[in-house]
Amino acid sequence: MGKTRIITINAQNPEGEKIREAAEIIKRGGLVAFPTETVYGLGGNALDEHAAERIYSAKGRPQDNPLIVHIQSIDDLENIVEGIPKEAERLMKVFWPGPLTILFRKKPVIPAGTTAGLDTVAVRMPAHRVALELIKAAGVPIAAPSANISGKPSPTCAEDVYEDLYGKIDMILDGGTCPVGVESTVLDLSGPAPLILRPGGLTKEELENILGHVEIDPGLMPGEKPRSPGQKYRHYAPRARMTVVEGPLELQVGKIVELAKSLEKSGKKVGIMATAQTRHLYPHMTVFSVGDRNAPLTISSNLFSILRKFDRMGVDEILAESISKDGLGLAVMNRLNKAAGYNIIKA
Ligand code: TXA
Ligand code: MG
Repeated sequence: MGKTRIITINAQNPEGEKIREAAEIIKRGGLVAFPTETVYGLGGNALDEHAAERIYSAKGRPQDNPLIVHIQSIDDLENIVEGIPKEAERLMKVFWPGPLTILFRKKPVIPAGTTAGLDTVAVRMPAHRVALELIKAAGVPIAAPSANISGKPSPTCAEDVYEDLYGKIDMILDGGTCPVGVESTVLDLSGPAPLILRPGGLTKEELENILGHVEIDPGLMPGEKPRSPGQKYRHYAPRARMTVVEGPLELQVGKIVELAKSLEKSGKKVGIMATAQTRHLYPHMTVFSVGDRNAPLTISSNLFSILRKFDRMGVDEILAESISKDGLGLAVMNRLNKAAGYNIIKA
C-alpha cells in the first residue's frame, strides 16, 4: 500500500464529511485507524474476511488472536450474536458505551477470519463520538484491535499510530489523545462465575457492583495458560529492558535509585517511571511521572505514551515503580508487568 491519509477530526463533534470519507474506506474493505476512549483502534469491516486479513498483516498479528467487534448501538448486537445472557443485558445498560468487551456466541455473519476460528465473538460499544459515528456511517460492525505493531505498547495518540502503521493502512483519523489509555476489560459470562479475561478500563469493582462476585482468569498469572489467546503473547513491550519494583513505596524508591546508579556506572542509559508523589526523589536522573497515585486515570492515560517516550529517547533500561492493584491499578499493573516480561523484583 502507498500513502496513508491523516485527517484531523473534532473528537467532541466530528465533521460529517470526514466521517463519510472514512466510512467509504471501511465499506470498500480498507483500513482506518480511529480514536476510542481506551486506545486507537485499527478498523476494518467485521463482516469481511479480507478486511480481517489486512488487519492481521498490517499489525504483524499472530493468526490465532481474535479481533474485538465494535458496534454503535445495543440493537446491532442481535444481528451478530446468538443468545444474549441476562447478565450481559444488565451490564450493557449500565456500562455501554464504555471500556467493557463481552464474549458472545457468534452468528455465521461474523466470518471465522475475524474471530481467529473461534465460535465466540468479543463485542464492545466504544464511548467515543468519532468511533460511534464511523461505525454508524459504515453501516457495518467494525473489527478493531489496537492500532499498533503487535507486541508494542498500544497507541494513545495519532502520532503513535503513525509511527507503527504509516504506509500500511488507508487513513488515520486524528482525534487527539485517548482519555482512558488502557484497553477495555474483556469479560466471559459463559462459565459458572463471570470471568475477567483481560483487566482493563472498566474495573473489577464496577463489575461487582452489578454482578456480585467476579473472578480473574488465573491464567493471567506468569507462567500460566491464559483463556484469552491475546494474553499469552509478550505485549506492550518497549525496546528497552524493563524492571518493575514492588514493595513499600520508600523501599521501591531506594531500590530504584540503587539500581539506576549501578546501571549508569556500567554505561547504560536509564529511564525511571515514577509518580507525582515520588518524582522529586530521583534528582539528576531521567525520570517521568506517570501520574498521581490518588487519581489512577492520570496513570492509565499516560502509561503507554511514557513507554514510547523512553524508546524515542533511546533508553536502555526502564525502572518502574508499582502502584496498588485496586480499581484501574489492576489493569495498569497487568500492562506494566507484561511490558517488563514479568521481570519484577521485590524491594
Ligand atoms: O479497548 C480495546 O479493547 C481496544 C479498542 C481499539 O477497542 N481494542 C483492543 O483490541 O484492545 P486487541 O485486539 O488489541 O485486544 C483484543 C483482546 C485480545 O487479548 C484477544 O485475545 C481478546 O481480546 N479476544 C478477542 N476476541 C476473543 C474471543 N472470542 N475469546 C477470547 N478472547 C478474545
Ligand atoms: Mg492490542
